[in-house]
Amino acid sequence: MDEFIRVAAVTDVADPGKELIEVDGEMVALFHVGGTFYAIDDVCTHDGGPLVDGELTDHAIACPRHGAKFDIRSGAALSMPAVRPTRAHEVKVEDGNVFVRLRQQAAGPVGQPAAPPAATPVSHSGTSRQETAASSPAPAEPGPPVEAGGLAAQTLSESLIREMLKEVKDPELFVNIVDLGLIYNVSLAAAAEGDGQQVSIDMTMTSPACPAGPQLIADTKRVVSSHNDVSGVEVRIVMDPPWTPDRMTDDARDQLGIF
Ligand code: FES
Repeated sequence: MDEFIRVAAVTDVADPGKELIEVDGEMVALFHVGGTFYAIDDVCTHDGGPLVDGELTDHAIACPRHGAKFDIRSGAALSMPAVRPTRAHEVKVEDGNVFVRLRQQAAGPVGQPAAPPAATPVSHSGTSRQETAASSPAPAEPGPPVEAGGLAAQTLSESLIREMLKEVKDPELFVNIVDLGLIYNVSLAAAAEGDGQQVSIDMTMTSPACPAGPQLIADTKRVVSSHNDVSGVEVRIVMDPPWTPDRMTDDARDQLGIF
């Protein structure tokens, strides 16, 4: 669409304030901050959350589902678990009215090529539109078998287990859980019965409601159990301290295009 469309009167939206509007059949979040209007897709690129329902702080809107923040001026993803921008649209004000022109593509993260949002839109009841559609896919199956390769033949240690766990990747971010900073603690103890060692892992998630949690736990157990000297694996999910992006390694940042 290459035309500006009137969407509201200036007085319709408080300053600061936000409104959900429809532009040419698309749901758009309209913001009024410091006397200026901004418009971005009402879609969080993490998992389709409705952004306009979130908390607005200065020029940042927080997704109400898992907390990712977006810059309302550019659509840039400011914090995990979102790594891709949402579309930002052109806005102008004339004669006391607000006009929006849709852009076709989101601007890429800093220094990265553009990446169109691929998330599933979510209704304002908080339920994924995909989840409610008749064509909804079945619940996520456990991931494919994950192998730790030749590492399983080496002497068991905490550092070896961390290396093995690099085979486990977040299914949404495609970055391994060690470089994401999700593994807080690894400990080994002699098994209470028989040979081998019991492995205990404290793992966190990028958000309390991370949809990938069950798969990550299953893959973690599968990889560590592949070592002959492991008799059992316990995975504890801990949210304290909460995960923050600064726990990621530089490799993870490079893969996600975060600088
Ligand atoms: S859907 Fe927005 S942070 Fe997860």
